[in-house]
Amino acid sequence: MSDSLIDRAREATTAAHAPYSKYRVGAALRTVDGSVFVGCNIENANYSNSLHAEEVAVAEAVKTGHREFERLAVTSAARDGVTPCGMCRQTLAEFATDDLEIVCDLGDDTASYTLGELLPNTISEQTLTDAQQETDR
Ligand code: THU
Ligand code: ZN
Repeated sequence: MSDSLIDRAREATTAAHAPYSKYRVGAALRTVDGSVFVGCNIENANYSNSLHAEEVAVAEAVKTGHREFERLAVTSAARDGVTPCGMCRQTLAEFATDDLEIVCDLGDDTASYTLGELLPNTISEQTLTDAQQETDR
């Protein structure tokens, strides 16, 4: 399947630093103005400091003021349809709405989800605001 955002995610895997898992991940995030920001996983010898591809793509976008996300493509070098992990779903939810489209790479095919499908009932700024109002009453 020809999908340019998937192609950008695939390209991004080539920059991955994954000497421990050997699992190279790439992400490409398109924002509403048509810009594309890419990320790859960057592992660390202490393991826990490892950055995920989606986190890096989000950071690339947000640091330059692009906070409105339209579509995210994710791939691994194995083309196994990997989806963003729970932590990355929550990171995306900080900026994106439930209708953010997430496209995952199955090699010859893709699987599409919305962020709301992958992360229903998430904690958000609204959750905290509502709780604060509750305690102020
Ligand atoms: N990984 C990502 O980059 N994104 C995800 O959401 C899933 C996991 C990376 C982290 C680690 O470098 C490797 O994949 C194996 O878990
Ligand atoms: Zn993740």
